[in-house]
Parts: sequence; C-alpha cells; structure tokens
Amino acid sequence: MKDLVKKLIDTHSLSLLEYEKLLCDRNDEDMEVIKEEAVKLRKEIYGKKVYIRGLIEFTNYCKNNCYYCGIRCANKNVERYRLTEEEILTCCDMGYNLGFRTFVLQGGEDPYFDDDRLTNIVRGIREKYKDVAITLSVGERTKESYEKLFEAGANRYLLRHETADVEHYRKLHPESMSYENRINCLKVLKDIGYQVGAGFMVGSPYQSNKTLAEDLKFIEEFKPDMCGIGPFIPHKDTIFKDEKAGGLELTLFLLSVIRIIHPPVLLPATTALGTIDKKGREKGIEAGANVVMPNLSPVNVRDKYLLYDNKICTGDEAAECINCMKRRMESVGYEVVIDRGDIIK
Ligand code: 5AD
Ligand code: FES
Repeated sequence: MKDLVKKLIDTHSLSLLEYEKLLCDRNDEDMEVIKEEAVKLRKEIYGKKVYIRGLIEFTNYCKNNCYYCGIRCANKNVERYRLTEEEILTCCDMGYNLGFRTFVLQGGEDPYFDDDRLTNIVRGIREKYKDVAITLSVGERTKESYEKLFEAGANRYLLRHETADVEHYRKLHPESMSYENRINCLKVLKDIGYQVGAGFMVGSPYQSNKTLAEDLKFIEEFKPDMCGIGPFIPHKDTIFKDEKAGGLELTLFLLSVIRIIHPPVLLPATTALGTIDKKGREKGIEAGANVVMPNLSPVNVRDKYLLYDNKICTGDEAAECINCMKRRMESVGYEVVIDRGDIIK
C-alpha cells in the first residue's frame, strides 16, 4: 500500500498537495484498498442499512443562471411549474405511507416561495408528521430566512458548495453569484443548528485534480453532515452542452475517499450516478455511500425538473420507484430501512 493511502486511512486527513497526488497517482490497487476501507467504516457505523429520502421537486423556477444547470433562468425551453402546498402535502402523505421518514423539499431559487410561503409549508408538514426530518434544498437565502425556516420545523439543509476553488466557481457561475456567499450560507446554516449538506459535481467543466483536492480539504475541515456528489452531466440547453460527463470510476473513488475523510457522513448514491451507469447507485453504495433519494414528485412534473439530460426515474410513480430501489439495494446485500436516518456521530 502506498504511504499516502496509509496516511489517509490512519489519520483521515491529507494536505492539499497530498490529496492532489492521491488523485493524480491513483492506480487499481489504491482504489481497491480505499474502497474496502470505506465499506468497512460505513459498516461499522451504519451496518447494511440504506437510508431513503423522499425528494419533492416543488418548483423549477429559478432566478439564477448557473452555467451547468438545465433549469437556469435563461433556459426558455423549460415549462415552469410550482406545486401548491396541498400538492406537496399529498406527496408527503404518499411518502409517509411508503416508509419515508425524511422529506427533501428541493427547488430552484424561486422568489415566489418567500419566507411566509415556505415557513407555512414547513409548518404544515411538521404539524402533520412529528417523526420525520424535513430537509430543505432551496439555495442561498438570508440568515433571517434560514432561522425562520428552522423555527418552523426544518431540520436539515442541502446546499452543495459546487467547488471549493474560487476561480473554478467563477467559471461555473455568473457574476451575480459568489463563492464567498455560498460558503457563508453553509456556515450560517450550521450555526443555526441545521444538519448541513455540502457537495459538488464530479467532472464539471474546468475541474482538475487540484480543484478536487480543494473540495476534499473543504470536506475534511467543514465536516458537513451530508455530502452530495454525483457526476456532472451536460444539459442540451446550457453552454456546457458539448462538455464531457463526469466519470463513474472517479465518482466512486471520491465517494470512498470522502467516507474515509469523514466516516459518519451521510453520503447519497445520487440519481446522476444512476444516470451515467445502469447500476450506478448500487455501485455507489458498494463504494461507501449509505443514502438514496428516490423521487416523490408527482409524475406529471417529473420531466420538467431536468438539471441534466437523460435523467432516470422520470416516468415512475413513487411506489414503483421505492420498490425498484429496495430490490436494487437488496441485490447488493443492503437493506432500505424506515428511519429518519440522522447522522450517527
Ligand atoms: N449535472 C449534474 N449535476 C447537476 N446539478 C446541477 N446541474 C447539474 C448537471 N448538469 C447538481 C448541482 C446542484 C444539484 C441540485 O444538482 O450540484 O447543487
Ligand atoms: Fe426509480 Fe428504479 S429507482 S424506478
């Protein structure tokens, strides 16, 4: 085993240059050792359990124009939609009956959902379900807004940092967005008491082993409770339409490395991973992930929430999707459980 691999396993930490070297010099043997260690750590903490999150994509309006994203505001080919509070609650009812104990409300940055509207929705879910975790994934907001939502009953917040390299951040986002604000939001969320999820795309345009090393260092230092990573996949209506998608192997390797850096982290095998490979999510779990996020959105809006091309599961009812997921996890020796699935620290 290489010294660097041993150091990572023994100390859960490397310097920036060492992370870069780990990525540059990786060979099959390193990858196998790292994967086995990741699976071991995951098993010690979470056993063979896979946590599920019911994803409710409740608005595809977005005021931002991230260059990689299919629902960016400049894309005029998207048919925009918003779910009503009632529709969202119906998704939750269905999800609860199917065994979901976490609901993730995800949307673009949609000004229609101001603090009053969104806190009402969160309160509505909270009043009905005392035993679920409510996760929000609605982008950058003010501290006051995050506080109100927390008080209304939200427990977790997903906000991928996208890249921990300032210059790389600039190349993926328009001038109106800043790396500084993104990171500040993550810190504020953590201070308020949310369980916080960061994360990044693998193989996004202009990414390098150097920028990935910065992502790993960021994860090591910030220690997010969740970390969403999945391959970048080009969307036909973006300026990155001709760029290459991120690779399966690199994504799996990074999942394992992140498990080792921060063993208790909640790590999803993402839909994007399932999109670039038929068995991507199973392989993600086998690389150290412990979460999957089946879609609970109503089928009639599924094909409107497309961040990238060829997204899977857009035609499946929630019930079909969860059964499919159970079978998939069982096929690799894991078990989907009915649980909030909080981080075990
Ligand atoms: N490919 C893969 N992932 C994407 N995301 C947005 N656009 C794409 C794409 N083209 C990811 C971003 C965002 C999350 C919700 O989805 O990382 O934070
Ligand atoms: Fe959605 Fe298989 S997980 S249909």
